[in-house]
Amino acid sequence: MHNNPLWNRLKEKAQQAEVRDLSHLWQNHNRHDAFTFEHGDLYLDLSKNWIDEEALGLLSEMAEHADLEGAIDKLYKGSIVNVTDQLPATHTTLRDPAHPNRKNNTETIYQLTDQIMAGDIRTGFGKKIKQLVNIGIGGSYLGPRLVVEALTELQSESRVPVYFAASVDDSLINQLFMSVDIEHTLFCISSKSFSTVETLMNARAVEQKLKLIEGYQPNETQSSLMAITANQDKARAAGIPDAMVLPFDESIGGRFSLWSAIGFPIVMAAGKDKFEALLDGAYQMDQHYKTQPFSQNLPVLMALMTIWYRNFIGLDAYGCLPYDARLRSLPKWLQQLMMESAGKMHNIEGEVIKYPTTPWVFGDHGQLSQHAFFQAFHQGVDALPLDFVGVLEKDSSSQNFLLFNLIAQGAALMQGKEEDHSMKGCPGNKPSTTLLLKAMTPQAVGQLLAMYEHMVYTLSVIWHINCFDQPGVELGKSIARDIQEHVENNTLNDMALDPSTMALIKKVMEQ
Ligand code: F6P
Repeated sequence: MHNNPLWNRLKEKAQQAEVRDLSHLWQNHNRHDAFTFEHGDLYLDLSKNWIDEEALGLLSEMAEHADLEGAIDKLYKGSIVNVTDQLPATHTTLRDPAHPNRKNNTETIYQLTDQIMAGDIRTGFGKKIKQLVNIGIGGSYLGPRLVVEALTELQSESRVPVYFAASVDDSLINQLFMSVDIEHTLFCISSKSFSTVETLMNARAVEQKLKLIEGYQPNETQSSLMAITANQDKARAAGIPDAMVLPFDESIGGRFSLWSAIGFPIVMAAGKDKFEALLDGAYQMDQHYKTQPFSQNLPVLMALMTIWYRNFIGLDAYGCLPYDARLRSLPKWLQQLMMESAGKMHNIEGEVIKYPTTPWVFGDHGQLSQHAFFQAFHQGVDALPLDFVGVLEKDSSSQNFLLFNLIAQGAALMQGKEEDHSMKGCPGNKPSTTLLLKAMTPQAVGQLLAMYEHMVYTLSVIWHINCFDQPGVELGKSIARDIQEHVENNTLNDMALDPSTMALIKKVMEQ
């Protein structure tokens, strides 16, 4: 990427003071029209960013130079795009009404949910299933959680209340056992690999607790444990009856898996119709991504903005601020999607690259963040790109209040304010993006999430990295396993660890 002559042109462009000066950029009276975009249920306003049409044009050329069009084609054709694992990435097939994968996937999920709702499949206590606990982490947690929260606003809207247990934590499991009606609860072990230690430890803890309860007699059609996995053999070996295993394919990346059987909690909570509409919304975005020119293509535009800020302006953070409690988990989901997918220093040939990739992604509910870290946005010395995400809602004064806050923050950051007392002044000229959903519908949520997924794929194509693997996560896990083993075997001193790490382990052991 950096060998390309466009790289130097963009570097020069980013050095120009005018392109970082919003008051100068707004001298172009066409700016609002030129930098706002609409597709389906999404409205995207990029006009408060440090960018002009020339820079966006150069970035677009860069995407062409990286053969983004060819890469999008490869994604949809099912070519190998995950070169490390030699796999295609097939999440888009799960949303395509013309692809057999969509029907096969949803039929399997619906068959099980129907049996559960009809009472044909019961818990290990022989009772009807009325609650669900999802035991999973990372992609086997963040996507389902985000969508369940987005589509079942109130617990009362939820057909079956869904709870989540992600990290290993005895207190969390104990608390769950106190808050759910255990005899009516199904525990769903969601794990693509079925080898994530955290998930398996939580599952084991749950099973042990269940076994201590009187009347627990699981069998083939009566089970308080089920599994969603791409590794059916391991689930079977763990004693989960076949009828209680929802499979999905290895070619669905964990971070891209909420559309697969991993979306089962969504169906349980929100129902089939909403899940279908979610898939339809994502499919609409898939079509948009595939067919629209880069200059109008929402995921491509979002990716180009990220490249611009990260590689040319030189900003290293990125904030996601949903102004809607229903989207409170969006920042965490996006954080995994971007940082696990694009936190890479090797290109797809395995060579070390010379340019930065993912920014640090963080965020929280916008209004809560206003009272936590927005001070630094307004008067801190740094600037960073921010996505303000809002949902339009008819006849809701509280929603309007939230949206006016969202809008005011973008305006305040851009305009700033001069004060007699200099410490009270805000410099302004801070960039932001505004993204509005026209309603909180499953279609709109599907479009939003698919847009971010394709944004990340676009980033990976331009950065020439593989966004579908995560080898870096393994190192910490294997050291943790080694420590555990050495502690158990009393051979800690054989470990080649630094004095700080060794002292910390000893502190834990001394308790
Ligand atoms: O954090 C690493 C990771 O492998 C993620 O990519 C994945 O989403 C998560 O762990 C959970 O993995 P699994 O679904 O296999 O339990």
